[in-house]
Amino acid sequence: MCGIIGYLGGREATPILMESLKRLEYRGYDSAGVAVLELPRAGEAVRTSVTKSEAKVDTLIAKLKMNMPSGNLGIGHTRWATHGKPTYVNAHPHTDCKGKIFVVHNGIIENFAELKAELEAAGHEFPSDTDTEVVPHLIEANYKGDFLAAVRAALKRIKGAYALAMFSSDDPELLVGARLNAPLVVGIGDNEYYIASDITAIIPYTKRVLVLGEGEVAAVTPLGAEVSTLDGVTVNPKIVHVDWDVSQAQKGGYPHFMLKEINETPEALANAMRGRLTDDGTVSFREFDVADKQLRRIDDILLLGMGTSRHAAMIGEYVIEDWSGIPARAEDASEFRYRRPTVGEKTLGVVISQSGETADTLVAMQQAKARGALSVAVTNVVASSAARDADGAIYLHAGPEIGVASTKTLHAHIVSLYLLAMRLADVKGRVSPERKRELVEALRLPVALEGALKLKEISYIHAEGTSGGELKHGPIALLDDQFPVIAICTAGTTKDKMVSNVHEIVARNAPVLALITKGDRSLNGVATDVFEIPEVDEAAAVVLNTVVLQLFAYHVAVKLGQDVDQPRNLAKSVTVE
Ligand code: AGP
Repeated sequence: MCGIIGYLGGREATPILMESLKRLEYRGYDSAGVAVLELPRAGEAVRTSVTKSEAKVDTLIAKLKMNMPSGNLGIGHTRWATHGKPTYVNAHPHTDCKGKIFVVHNGIIENFAELKAELEAAGHEFPSDTDTEVVPHLIEANYKGDFLAAVRAALKRIKGAYALAMFSSDDPELLVGARLNAPLVVGIGDNEYYIASDITAIIPYTKRVLVLGEGEVAAVTPLGAEVSTLDGVTVNPKIVHVDWDVSQAQKGGYPHFMLKEINETPEALANAMRGRLTDDGTVSFREFDVADKQLRRIDDILLLGMGTSRHAAMIGEYVIEDWSGIPARAEDASEFRYRRPTVGEKTLGVVISQSGETADTLVAMQQAKARGALSVAVTNVVASSAARDADGAIYLHAGPEIGVASTKTLHAHIVSLYLLAMRLADVKGRVSPERKRELVEALRLPVALEGALKLKEISYIHAEGTSGGELKHGPIALLDDQFPVIAICTAGTTKDKMVSNVHEIVARNAPVLALITKGDRSLNGVATDVFEIPEVDEAAAVVLNTVVLQLFAYHVAVKLGQDVDQPRNLAKSVTVE
């Protein structure tokens, strides 16, 4: 997700913003910018210098060095695009009509379209395509001379997720931060203060931070930081002493990015659904805004992906076919491209790619499009090749995934495909709860494949993923007391069949770790060990089971001393054929 830095103190702000943005580059981004309130020269009015780059932070720094803004108050940002392509205009900071209020943001404003329309009707103009830009204009619309009060009033209107740093040129000694469903910290230096999206940005300057709570606002002045709620109720947050180095801070204190990103799964799932699923179950995709009539014509769903994304495609195949009744097929993109596939104008090509740059997947999509298919890219990178080449995009909004092994983005893909399945089912006028329950049972197979892939790619131990039914058609020959098995036996219509499989496995002396639903005793004394999964809707169990398999692979790899985040021979994005 985006990186945020704000500074107020006795030193020049610009060098601090530049250094901090360099330390935030690890989060992944596509553009950057800073705003510095310049000290007025004699007789001149206060002005704010804004410098942006639609490229790397180094490009921004080169621009700043050519004409270094001088001032003690400033904010900076590295943008991981969610709404609006990575362009100069969309780069942060964003400002109000008068160029007095400056804001940088991390998160997703779910109701920005509604707020934007309201503000446009009141005469506000929006040069950018971002959701962020409504924030300075909303503050402006509420400004009656008290910047902090205007910020509180504006944030009360906002739904979704935000971490914000902002200032007004009318208040040259006030830096404001606020957060909701996105992290933000206030760094306490010696008569200087910082606001940052994560500790990494400020760790060389201070190890004393205030961690803002949900819905809280920090008002920073040279006298200190005051924290309050949106209703103005004072909050006394505790000061935390952080003794991490930069590397530890980048991993949020976790030993590896992979473990940090597995733990980011809940936020990734929330972001994948944010603003797309209304309370009455209606699904909409802002960047894949296809009319019901056009979707109703679709009679064939083709899902294309590689590796983990292919496993997501397999889950999508089950879900979409069962919920919508439209025949669906998940294809290995590298094979698909060499066939003469049956694809036509009634085909929806669903291209699944975290990076949006996987060569085989891109070529396969081009072939499907050439045969007349409507295409949608389900990807984590805004304006990636897949997103640009497809007719529409469903963005994961999962934030950057630094570990080579896909973890949180798999779950974001699964949820995005559930939403697409619901959209198609609604358009086709068919979906029934009991049918959903049957289907999710079938989702186990890709989960086993994914667990096997994780084990292979980070611990280098060979693993097989198979359905329970397939076991007796070959894989059972592998079993002996040296061949451990993980059996997914969580509640569902085929659970009893899986229990029988476990008995057959144990009969061949193979150790079994069984994933079971909490409270289920059927495998006690049978499986070598059991791992309890909370009793959840079976669609959610797909995610929980996969998280367990990812954690299992992670801990095995760590125990073996492997390079968890950068496994040998692998790249995060396979952009060559
Ligand atoms: C899985 O952990 C790997 N990261 C790899 O299989 C990956 O899923 C595959 O290379 C596809 O990448 P993409 O999602 O960026 O297209």
